[in-house]
Amino acid sequence: MELSILLVLVLISMLVFSAFFWLQSRISPKEMEVIPGSLGWPVVGESFSFLSAFSSAAGIFSFMKNRQQRYGKVFKTFVLGRFTVFMTGREASKILLTGKDGMVSLNLFYTGKQVLGPTSLLQTTGEAHKRLRRLIGEPLSVDGLKTYFHFINTVAMETLDQWSGRTVLVLEEASTFTLKVIGNMIMSLEPAGEEQEKFRSNFKIISSSFASLPFKIPGTAYHNGIKARDRMYDMLDSIIAGRRSGKSIQQDFLESLIMKHSKAEGGEDQENKLTDKQLKDNILTLLVAGHDTTTAALTWLTKFLEENPAVLEKLREEHINIQSKRTDGASLTWSEVNNMPYTNKVINETLRRATILPWFSRKAAQDFEIDGYKIKKGWSINLDVVSIHHDPEVFPDPEKFDPSRFDAPVKSFSFLGFGSGPRMCPGINLARLEICVFIHHLVIRYKWKPLEKDDSVQPTLVRMPRNKYPVIVEPL
Ligand code: HEM
Repeated sequence: MELSILLVLVLISMLVFSAFFWLQSRISPKEMEVIPGSLGWPVVGESFSFLSAFSSAAGIFSFMKNRQQRYGKVFKTFVLGRFTVFMTGREASKILLTGKDGMVSLNLFYTGKQVLGPTSLLQTTGEAHKRLRRLIGEPLSVDGLKTYFHFINTVAMETLDQWSGRTVLVLEEASTFTLKVIGNMIMSLEPAGEEQEKFRSNFKIISSSFASLPFKIPGTAYHNGIKARDRMYDMLDSIIAGRRSGKSIQQDFLESLIMKHSKAEGGEDQENKLTDKQLKDNILTLLVAGHDTTTAALTWLTKFLEENPAVLEKLREEHINIQSKRTDGASLTWSEVNNMPYTNKVINETLRRATILPWFSRKAAQDFEIDGYKIKKGWSINLDVVSIHHDPEVFPDPEKFDPSRFDAPVKSFSFLGFGSGPRMCPGINLARLEICVFIHHLVIRYKWKPLEKDDSVQPTLVRMPRNKYPVIVEPL
């Protein structure tokens, strides 16, 4: 009896697998057959190897490297429910990132799309994308950021005041710092108090729902993410209503968008205005795109400095020199923060070496040919940025942390720390400002030692040290 049940089960499994195999071969694009690579097992494809590399100590790089060694710079695979072509190299990055007609579209996962909402910058293309970028880009320009410099400087100093003689998790500290900055810039949130706590806890839940499975069942990360997003939108709705009624007036990002761009009934120039939905979707987009990336960059930079004493010494020299020119004991100024050449090279080298966003995901905007392979419009393409950043022909001895690589301009499309083309990071000035200010106060005040040796990375879309980089800090 038991044997017959077993046989029936085996038979059913075989049937199910054959059906899936048949289905997969039917739906896999025919033109993809000539592209080298393996589509792996039926249904799951190569998702298991992908996920296991993703959560390994070294991160996703081994998945790509193994296949590049076997198949070359362009290979196909089937991961996480998608036929995908991975490619690398400067030529690929130029084609993918610039896109001939400007219709470069990002390829977010389902959960990301649902959480961010349909009008997010990340989900628009072409003219609509250009227009949104223009509206959002204004307050993130160098001039726009000047208003927030004092706040950023104060929060950096206050954060670092707490470090003396303590053990800190650099990643947690960097996360708190960057959230306080963005919360204040966007909606004048006070750096401490109940509202800040609510904002922080909702944001963390939203952020961790991004790479979750798309099951909207109570208790799942995805379900919690949608709920936290709704709470965040309620918070924004009540702030927007307060501003419109004239009860509260602030000088922040939200105010400038409400004043200049909110779509009211009738009125002129409706094309260049945002609806409340667009406003909220895009504020959330800025939070999501700007927080983990800046947090990771600050953490990696602190780690690389400790591991490279000669670089730390040279960087400290730049900052002590800036400090020594002040006569009245004043703090960092706007013009000083805009004149830190070596610090900017250290930031670039950090972004190269750590490659915080290891691949950029796109939908091919048109048919094109690369390395003799025809890529069809609509295919999912992942640009492997880690390999571009570790190409020994452009960056000799690529594992070495050496900011002098940026003494002269590097070849185009070989350094993609902030991306390139129409989707290049609009937060680049803010990120550099936050990092320069924080690093200034850090290196003129402290030295630090890691509490453990661990080079592994977290299995998240943004690469970060898995152990959050715990250090013991002492005054200089
Ligand atoms: C060190 C910190 C940062 C790094 C390394 C970084 C990196 C990047 C990269 C590589 C891209 C392009 C991705 C692609 O082409 O697929 C990008 C896009 C983007 N970044 Fe950043 N970013 C940082 C900080 C910020 C900040 C502070 C903000 C905003 C407050 C921000 C907002 C965005 C947005 C909205 C996009 C999408 C642009 C579009 O699709 O048009 N980023 N970022």
